[in-house]
Amino acid sequence: MDKQIRRRFVKRLKGLTILVSCLSLIFPVSACKKNDSSQNDPNLLLGFSQIGSESAWRIGNTNDIEQQAENYGISLMFENANQKQENQIAAIRRFIAYKVDVIAFSPIVEDGWDNVLTEAKDAGIPVILVDRDISTEKEGLTTCLIGADFYKEGMMAGEYLIRKADALGLDHVNIVEITGTDNSTPMRQRQAGFADAIAGDERMQILESIDGDFLKSRGAECMRSLLEKYGDEIDVVYSHNDEMTLGALPEIEKAGFVPGKDMIIISIDGGQEAIDVLKEGKINCVVECTPKLGKELMETALKLKKGETVEEVIHPVEQIFSDEQDLSKIEPRGY
Ligand code: AHR
Repeated sequence: MDKQIRRRFVKRLKGLTILVSCLSLIFPVSACKKNDSSQNDPNLLLGFSQIGSESAWRIGNTNDIEQQAENYGISLMFENANQKQENQIAAIRRFIAYKVDVIAFSPIVEDGWDNVLTEAKDAGIPVILVDRDISTEKEGLTTCLIGADFYKEGMMAGEYLIRKADALGLDHVNIVEITGTDNSTPMRQRQAGFADAIAGDERMQILESIDGDFLKSRGAECMRSLLEKYGDEIDVVYSHNDEMTLGALPEIEKAGFVPGKDMIIISIDGGQEAIDVLKEGKINCVVECTPKLGKELMETALKLKKGETVEEVIHPVEQIFSDEQDLSKIEPRGY
């Protein structure tokens, strides 16, 4: 019965793929290049559980994964967990019941996955971590991680701040940090990388770190409360993603400060909106975190289906955009 459902699902997806392919003959989209068809495998059913739609980054990541599944002719079973771990666990259980070939997911937080991943392992389904990591004592629950080096991102942010403080001749630097979702990999590692980068610099002092959950609305709330508490003592806002930064900026302006001048603003992601604001001078530095992980995901899923070994960790190359550079040269970001 399960097999029948799965066959019907794959058939339906194949039909859709054929329809989309026919449409693309009528409306060719040059930007959406198909992959070399010799590598494609329409019989590969990939179950992917996405965290939600909390940021432009996340939406860009979803679009990229859907686009690359189409390019590689892979049947994608996509589930959006709407920011809830229990929805991700339920989605993974559905993937197991459907007998997908490969499971991939972006864990919203690091803890709490052992039971469901043991079920996937017992069912013989390989699991790929996308974007974020998990914390577990158990061996062999996942095959690999495809995602950014968040620690390095935090480091790059801290190193930029030291250069900026030198350039401005600052002798004391008060920092407020708006962090991402508590117990998530980017939150932990961006915090640790930044702290380590500034640790040896006696000018640097973190006044407070506050949980903004990667959301624009929370970024605004956190900034309001930080401004009430510290006002003009704040020299730097270090925010773990663009969404929270974009929420914080209007609050800084409403409080009578000029972001980018009265306060140094450092963000992470590098989405188009933040890059535009960087060019306006209201953000000083944006560390890139690319959401374009779909190609690596599809290639890894294909290898796993063929029983090949895969690299344990795949980090994309990332860069930094800041007021130290000629910003007119930044290409459109695509997210
Ligand atoms: O895990 C990546 C982070 O999650 C991005 O920085 C953020 O924008 C997203 O919501």
